[in-house]
Amino acid sequence: MQQGNKKYNRLILPSALVLLFLTQCAYDNSIDSYGNTTACDTAAVTFSQDIKALISQNCEGCHNGMSANGGLVLSGHQNTAAAALNGSLIDRMTRSAGDPLLMPPSGALNECDISKLQAWIGQGAPNN
Ligand code: HEC
Repeated sequence: MQQGNKKYNRLILPSALVLLFLTQCAYDNSIDSYGNTTACDTAAVTFSQDIKALISQNCEGCHNGMSANGGLVLSGHQNTAAAALNGSLIDRMTRSAGDPLLMPPSGALNECDISKLQAWIGQGAPNN
C-alpha cells in the first residue's frame, strides 16, 4: 500500500514541471527575446501602411491581373476592398489548417495580420 503511494508521488513532480513548461510556452508567444511584450496594434491600421504590403507579400503573387487564381485579382485598393467587404478574404484566411480552401495555400497568416485586416474591414475598408 505504502509502496504504491510512493510510486504515485514520484509522478507528481515531473507532471507538474511538464505542465508548468507548457504554460510558459504559451505565454512566450507574446514576449520577444528581449523580454518586451509584442502587442498587436490594430488601432491605427491603414490601407497604405499595413494592408497593401500584407496583400502584396502574401496574396498578390497568385491574385494579380496576369495570374488571377480563382478569378480573383487583389491588386490595388479597389479590388482588395471589394473582396474584403464581401467577406471572402476573411472567410478564406480563417479556415482551419488542412482545409483546401485556406488562403494562402501554404498556411494561415499570423493572428496579428488577420486582426489588422479585420480592423481595416471594420472601418469599411477605406483607401487611407
Ligand atoms: C500560391 C498561390 C496562392 C496564394 C499565395 C493565395 N491564393 Fe488565393 N487562391 C489560389 C487558388 C489556386 C485559388 C482558386 C482555388 C480556390 O478557390 O481555392 C484561390 C482562391 C481564392 C479565393 C476565392 C476566390 C473566389 O471568388 O472563388 C479567395 C477569396 C482567395 N484566394 C484569397 C486569397 C488571399 C486573401 C490570399 C492571401 C492571404 C491568397 N488568396 C493567397 C491561390 C493562391
